[in-house]
Amino acid sequence: MQYPIVIAPDPILRKENQEVTAITDELLQLLDDMYETMLANDGVGIAAPQVGKNLQVAIVEVEEGDRFELINPKIIQKSGADIDVEGCLSIPHTYGTVERATEITVRYFDREGEEIEVQAYDFLARAMQHEIDHLQGALFTDKVIEYIAEEDLEDYYAEEE
Ligand code: CO
Repeated sequence: MQYPIVIAPDPILRKENQEVTAITDELLQLLDDMYETMLANDGVGIAAPQVGKNLQVAIVEVEEGDRFELINPKIIQKSGADIDVEGCLSIPHTYGTVERATEITVRYFDREGEEIEVQAYDFLARAMQHEIDHLQGALFTDKVIEYIAEEDLEDYYAEEE
């Protein structure tokens, strides 16, 4: 099932997100539905509050087939810094540059309830930091350095190369 995306400034995006205490059928269904919703909206990540569930759950897939289902994720180490453009399914037609760590270690639980530690770099690290921010009620617009108009995005990427 596909959820409608919660759009800012809906207060759901700012509410506290509860830790998951058990892997239930309901949670597994939520993971499947969040993934379906993310793909349908051409996203590379989605957090539970964006589908109206205030839970510590997020999904990131920046490369097809390399899906991370993050339950109760915590960033336990970060280093490096880079500035790049971000957007958000909950803030349509809005883009801006944000500084993020380039290398992070995330500890989380997977859908089997197993504790995992993963190191992520560059774009994957950026996407994970963006989604884990959602779980703290934070949006990329809280830390944007410079907004970029939608029609200027192509120019921005061209200049970067
Ligand atoms: Co977002």
